[in-house]
Amino acid sequence: MNIGIFDSGIGGISILHQAMLSLPKENYIFYADTDHVPYGTKSKEQIVDYVDHIMQFMIEYNCKAVVIACNTATAAAAQIMREKYHLPIIGIEPAVKPAVEQSAGKRVMVIATPLTIKEQKLKNLVDRIDDTHLVDLVPFPKLVQFAENGIFDTKEVEDYIIETLTDYDMTRYGEFVLGCTHFNYFKDTFRKLFPENVRIIDGNEGTINQLKRVLESRRLLEENEGSVRYFTSGREVTDKEALNRIAALHVRLENMRSIT
Ligand code: DGL
Repeated sequence: MNIGIFDSGIGGISILHQAMLSLPKENYIFYADTDHVPYGTKSKEQIVDYVDHIMQFMIEYNCKAVVIACNTATAAAAQIMREKYHLPIIGIEPAVKPAVEQSAGKRVMVIATPLTIKEQKLKNLVDRIDDTHLVDLVPFPKLVQFAENGIFDTKEVEDYIIETLTDYDMTRYGEFVLGCTHFNYFKDTFRKLFPENVRIIDGNEGTINQLKRVLESRRLLEENEGSVRYFTSGREVTDKEALNRIAALHVRLENMRSIT
């Protein structure tokens, strides 16, 4: 059987990348909903609709578990999908808990899409954990489009980050949480712009550890040849050039894995 992993676009490849490192003998179906990217500026109802469609696709493609490799889709639709479908659904949410635990009294910044920031799910998470009010939530609406257009470490991206954070004194922060999977592609730029003591964290490893625990507990782990099939909004990617672009994204993610 397969493991389904999906996102609105290329952000989810960062989760797939981690999954392939941790569970290399599994077969993966990766689905990027490129017809509808970005999700983060759309309504919750629209996203629930898109995700429902993708879940049906994953079931048709013989998936034993599905990872929602998108903070926005998790916030909007994970609970609804868990009530509707009876296979394990693993979501991703911003790594607020480890960030607050490790911040040693310094401030914590969580960046995400506008929808993730607006949703009650993140507010509840922060309320539960942040009793000393150290956490700031900051939307970054444009980064997803930059990533989708292959614009990563450019002056334009740097200027956008600097401008968005102009009201924040980064020396007061200990932890910087990437609350959107697309933001992984900008780790090198964030690292370059922030003081050394600001730690950059994402939820990728935690999400895949959770996938592993769930598969283990249900005896669903397999030893296959380890393959990936890529789909964009239901269409299989077979074109050599497109597959090369995906391979280049894996290389970029691999090169930035040690950045914290
Ligand atoms: N990658 C998705 C996330 O983690 C969102 C991207 C989008 O806005 O489409 O939130």
